[in-house]
Amino acid sequence: MKGVILAGGSGTRLRPLTTVVNKHLLPVGKFPMIHYSLEKLHSAGIREVMIVTGAQSIGLYAAYIGSGAERGMKVHYAVQDEAGGIAQALGLAESFIGDDEKFIVLLGDNLFEDSLDPFVKKYESQSSGAMVLLKEVEDPRRYGVAELDGGRITSIEEKPEHPKSNYSVTGIYMYDPEVFDIVRRIKPSARGELEITDVNNVYAEAGTLTYDVLEGWWTDAGTHESLREAADRLSKDDGENGK
Ligand code: TTP
Repeated sequence: MKGVILAGGSGTRLRPLTTVVNKHLLPVGKFPMIHYSLEKLHSAGIREVMIVTGAQSIGLYAAYIGSGAERGMKVHYAVQDEAGGIAQALGLAESFIGDDEKFIVLLGDNLFEDSLDPFVKKYESQSSGAMVLLKEVEDPRRYGVAELDGGRITSIEEKPEHPKSNYSVTGIYMYDPEVFDIVRRIKPSARGELEITDVNNVYAEAGTLTYDVLEGWWTDAGTHESLREAADRLSKDDGENGK
């Protein structure tokens, strides 16, 4: 399976750190944030990866990661001209993925403890549709929340007032190439972005969105507080942080 790491966006909540430095190059423990996504994919057996980021930063990623050969990986790069949303960034990986392969997508600011290996294996045996990873949280109103029915997600609601579960959708998604048609069909949201939740809800409505649950810690390092939390958790890490 191939992997896609989304590392664009504007990082407004992390200003002024992100005024000149892309969020996923900020230090977390001993490494720039992007290291952890690459490591998670590598330890799940994924060797071919595309990083999507803004034009301003792409050279810095190339300088840090290069071709990926040092890590035993092949790394490709794509430019997202403007921060038009997570689903727009995902759409840029279409020619990299092709039309007959399933793949995994990580939001580059999602840092977590679990190994991806069992989830990737589980999704590989799923005949069609998508899979997302969930995490049980104490304050679901802050997140995209999954409504569950057996092994499937029936809908995802963004920051609901009355959450239908305590399970937040993390930034770890697995898709078939049909996702690129869905990205083309969805419309920008009120904030002008192509939203990944709209993409996932197309699968949910079709009854083809499965899930699994992360057991270890998970954080979306998009704020100063959560970035500090992630750094605390990973500061002793030697980079091989798979469970
Ligand atoms: P967000 O945290 O939703 O957005 P952001 O990174 O722009 O930050 P802020 O809300 O503080 O302005 O993004 C989640 C992840 O998705 C992050 O790892 C970057 C990635 N992303 C893209 O690759 N392209 C985009 O257009 C957006 C919005 C996000």
